[in-house]
Amino acid sequence: MKNNNFLIIIGLVAIISFTITFYSITAFAQSTNQTSTLQSHQQNSFCKLTESDMLGPFYKEGAPFKQRLGEGVEGERLIITGKVMDTRCQPIKDAILDVWQANSTGEYDNNGFTLRGKVQTNNNGTYIIDTIVPKEYAAGDINRPSHIHLKVGAPNQPTLTTQLYFEGDPYLTDMEDKSLVMKVIDENGTKKANFDFVIEHYNQYEK
Ligand SMILES: [Fe+2]
Repeated sequence: MKNNNFLIIIGLVAIISFTITFYSITAFAQSTNQTSTLQSHQQNSFCKLTESDMLGPFYKEGAPFKQRLGEGVEGERLIITGKVMDTRCQPIKDAILDVWQANSTGEYDNNGFTLRGKVQTNNNGTYIIDTIVPKEYAAGDINRPSHIHLKVGAPNQPTLTTQLYFEGDPYLTDMEDKSLVMKVIDENGTKKANFDFVIEHYNQYEK
């Protein structure tokens, strides 16, 4: 009888130990899994993708690379600088920004490439667009606020089509995404703005 009790106690101890060990391992595995999911989530979405915006009717393919988009064009000089990055906030070198905009009377050059051109990011993912401030214009029944059109992307990568706007423009409406509105400062008669683009970039997952 004593032997039977002893065996029952040993059995119970074994079952309890097994149960505790099993749940501990499961809980540890779950917490490790959650941690790695959280880390990968943080790594992949730390920098939010820049909002897209409509292409509009005035895009023209084949614009040349230009040091100064506003070279020889009358208007208030505007310099936009910034970076092009992936969603892990890593700079993308050799990304191309294909830029087109209206002039200081609100018109596009639909015959040539005035105020149309490409710039490329350097090794730090930095770009400079040296241009003039575009004027707002009427498009059908609506007034478009001042804006600069861009297609941004690296070779063989997805391209972001978007527009940049100017803080304080009275023609801004709810149609324009507020995250695309640039703060502009005046420095000795030159308008200056900074804008960082975050775009999809498949190579980021191979790093
Ligand atoms: Fe436009």
